[in-house]
Amino acid sequence: MKRTLGVCYYPEHWPEEQWQEDAARMAALGLTWVRIGEFAWIKMEPEPGRYDWSWLDRAVETLGRHGLQVVLGTPTATPPRWMLDRHPDMLAVDAQGRTRDFGSRRHYDFSHLGYRVECARIVQAMAERYGKNPHVAAWQTDNEYACHDTVLSYSPAALSAFREWCAQRYQSPDALNRAWGNVFWSMEYDSFDQIGLPNLTVTEANPAHVMAFRRFASDEVVRFNRLQTEIIRKYSPAPIAHNYMGAVTDFDHFDTGADLDIASWDSYPLGFLSDRIPATEAHKLRFLRQGDPDFQAFHHDLYRAVGRGRWWIMEQQPGPVNWAPYNPDPLPGMARLWAWEAFAHGAEAVCYFRWRQAPFAQEQMHAGLLRPDSAPAPAFEEAALVARELAAMPDQSTARADVGLVFDYASAWAWQTQPQGRGFDHLWLAFHMYKGLRRLGLNVDILPPDTADLSDYPLVLAPGVATLSEGFLRALAAHKGQSIIGPRSNSKTVEFSTPVPLPPNLPGMSATVARVESLPPQMPVPLRDGGAFLHWREKVETTASVVEATTDGFPALIASGGLHYLTGWPDEVALDRILAAACTRAGLGIERLPEGLRRRDSATHRFLFNYNAEQVSWNGTEIPAAGVVWHKL
Ligand code: GAL
Repeated sequence: MKRTLGVCYYPEHWPEEQWQEDAARMAALGLTWVRIGEFAWIKMEPEPGRYDWSWLDRAVETLGRHGLQVVLGTPTATPPRWMLDRHPDMLAVDAQGRTRDFGSRRHYDFSHLGYRVECARIVQAMAERYGKNPHVAAWQTDNEYACHDTVLSYSPAALSAFREWCAQRYQSPDALNRAWGNVFWSMEYDSFDQIGLPNLTVTEANPAHVMAFRRFASDEVVRFNRLQTEIIRKYSPAPIAHNYMGAVTDFDHFDTGADLDIASWDSYPLGFLSDRIPATEAHKLRFLRQGDPDFQAFHHDLYRAVGRGRWWIMEQQPGPVNWAPYNPDPLPGMARLWAWEAFAHGAEAVCYFRWRQAPFAQEQMHAGLLRPDSAPAPAFEEAALVARELAAMPDQSTARADVGLVFDYASAWAWQTQPQGRGFDHLWLAFHMYKGLRRLGLNVDILPPDTADLSDYPLVLAPGVATLSEGFLRALAAHKGQSIIGPRSNSKTVEFSTPVPLPPNLPGMSATVARVESLPPQMPVPLRDGGAFLHWREKVETTASVVEATTDGFPALIASGGLHYLTGWPDEVALDRILAAACTRAGLGIERLPEGLRRRDSATHRFLFNYNAEQVSWNGTEIPAAGVVWHKL
């Protein structure tokens, strides 16, 4: 498949006289895709029921005339102000009970039935008008579900939808009481109408109640998205994408992904490092202008799984952003490196955000490919270079990875609901393991939790997966390779109680987690062979063989054949050793990479990415600072 570049563009922000020149410059730059429309509801429907498509027709036509293909976004993330007059109760409510008001974006509640009808109406009108337009070659639903913490709402609309959801799931209040363990603290309900949302309780709400609410909220996003995809599909053969985010686990992306053709995500490496990634100050400073060397790759692999192989970057950081605590300028070369890294992980397209920096409103400090005065910004030339390189590069395809790493959204909710110790988090545990694999030069596939066939993977990891599905357990029993499960995996039932027999209940392994403890960062538990457990450790009773032990005499890693259970959160030293040994047993070749240097194989090429601000030489290859090199395999 030929890989392509694109850009996000807002024709409604610029005088129409400028569109022609913009389109010509995009085409000359070598771009294929232009995403438009996703915030333009007020221009499409200036008053309720009065549509104005003329400007959008001309914008699509202008882009199309220059050979560009349009990704058309549905505008449902930004309902116009008039919508509130029609539906004053459509706004979401935060956990403190405060309404999240108009004046920015994403001001809607996923459960509001009236707003859903309005969304269906505008999507239908768009799909009817553009469904057969030859220039509209892809769709995007809404924009970044979950952005600005918008999945959980404690509104009246959410409350009645949640009661309905509970009635469907549990069928009787009795069954719900039993499932949640409501006999504890006399929390039993006689009817579904008595059930509230799990906010504003005196102390923590029942974790089973919170988990049910998280599942419900995720299902509401899926339903909202499906409403749009079902309409678009009636009118358009073009593939449908949504643009997901980095480090966002508020809804199950595998579930939304099942209704979409392409997963895409918005990659802002410098913003993420400054704002989201737990890392030391030294790490944040070292990679300030490059981003974390693994964070983008982790999401590339995650969204490749969410998209069942088809994925894009819908928004790529081109320069300083506006929303992180500090907003540094990327090192020269990074706008190219980030794009190539995405392609090496199988991206079909990379679209830069945005074409021209806006001189007004919230994002006026956010860079684009062009400055506000239309002169090229530094990333412009880098994008041009990538376009030329792509043209010269033979088609790429993704290779099967060495390692499968399970990632599970419900586990993210589980440990947020009941962390038991500060710092225990599914995303960051999975990311920690991912980093360990990448330091050894391995290629990773991220696997959904219901993966039922592991036979492609010599090594499988399932860290902190709260409930292992029956299908996965069967696959594990049949797996001939090496696997490392845990810590904390299979330690909850689906309804968030402790299973008896006690965890981990893995096929063919006799082991019981008899005691767990969580630990402050200053109090690691050392391992006999070096390194330590951080945050979390379990004391396991077992007849399985003990591969690693703590210095206080408890099993740290146990094995029954190729199946291993890990009883704590290993620090880097312990993790590197445990992974290296597992790779050796699995017959996987490893090569320890220098800090900041990362490697990725496609089916035909080996890529080396240097996230350092200095040149690195490795195995006789010089990789320039913020540079990428590749050779044929
Ligand atoms: C994304 C969003 C864009 C823009 C961008 C700025 O989260 O989808 O609309 O706001 O961030 O970095």
